[in-house]
Amino acid sequence: MSRIMVTGAAGFIGYHLARRLQKRGDAELLLVDNFSRGANDELYQELRRLPRVKAFDCDLCDPADVARLPDDVDTIYHEAALNGTQNFYERPYEVLRSGTLPTFYLLDKYARSGRMQRFVYAGTPESYASTVTKFNWPVPTDENVPLCIDDVFNERWSYAAAKIHGEVLVINACRQFGVPFSIIRYHNVFGPRMGDKHIVPDFLIRLRNDVAELHGHGDTRAFLYIDDAVEATILTGEHSATAGQVVNIGGSQELTMLELGRRMMQLAGRDPDSIVLHPSPAGSVKRRLPSTEKLKRLTGFQAQWSLDEGLLEAIRFYAPELLTDVAAAA
Ligand SMILES: NC(=O)c1ccc[n+]([C@@H]2O[C@H](COP(=O)([O-])OP(=O)(O)OC[C@H]3O[C@@H](n4cnc5c(N)ncnc54)[C@H](O)[C@@H]3O)[C@@H](O)[C@H]2O)c1
Repeated sequence: MSRIMVTGAAGFIGYHLARRLQKRGDAELLLVDNFSRGANDELYQELRRLPRVKAFDCDLCDPADVARLPDDVDTIYHEAALNGTQNFYERPYEVLRSGTLPTFYLLDKYARSGRMQRFVYAGTPESYASTVTKFNWPVPTDENVPLCIDDVFNERWSYAAAKIHGEVLVINACRQFGVPFSIIRYHNVFGPRMGDKHIVPDFLIRLRNDVAELHGHGDTRAFLYIDDAVEATILTGEHSATAGQVVNIGGSQELTMLELGRRMMQLAGRDPDSIVLHPSPAGSVKRRLPSTEKLKRLTGFQAQWSLDEGLLEAIRFYAPELLTDVAAAA
């Protein structure tokens, strides 16, 4: 039986990924988190009690904690990071620290021996946001886009800088040690248990109190439901064609935040024209849409969830009382 480690397993993607891998039943799972952002909640407690699962409450920035982790691992999905826009501005040092040190320590411990089958690293479109905004790089954006930050004095880019560093680090360490790697750039994954800071839960939670407000309503994104993101992650982590590759994972339907808000209002049986609109927060990225051609070509991935189906699941989790009888039955 192989051994798979998921770091950031108490977080959003890590949790759902670990659940899916556990269900498959063909590997022992090592879950790692320090709960700096993810929750040690009932769902995580349930997951860690399941067969073939071992959970480690471990700060990956602490070398002594990392030393206590089991020695042999076949695959690592390195999802741990301190993200969240507020953190980029208020805690840039911690963002840089947890965006760099864990990757070094994990590579030192597990990749140096050359025995690992795959190191999968979670990157981000923030790493190329400046290239699109400042240098007019084409949208939809593919994986060949140069990575850059346009202002080293702007703390917003602490996260992007750490993730750019992470990509370069993983590529060079894994090549040097002879370990296959894959880098995933996730784009706007959404679904249940994603915290309350992202646009979907934030909008739904406020809608429970009859507040319908949107900031940056003209900005565009493409959303991917978590189950599809997990499927794409596992395909990328296991397919031979994705070894040594950077792969975008994201949706392909570009829509404005207003269109997204209107969809949520309609599903919740509210008047879509009643949303109060505010301008974009300073420094927000106006347009983001990944090219997902490479993911499809290399792995055969096809999304299974429509936007509405995914939003309904999010409403069921965050604000079930908003669902009309018709929508609830769908
Ligand atoms: N969700 C998205 O759409 C998206 C988009 C782009 C990139 N990503 C990247 O994908 C990965 C997963 O994203 P997510 O949305 O699940 O994030 P998340 O914040 O929900 O989960 C990250 C987890 O890492 C843990 N963590 C942070 N520092 C740690 C440390 N030092 N030691 C141990 N655990 C630590 C946190 O407690 C948290 O549970 C992250 O690396 C993120 O940067 C996600």
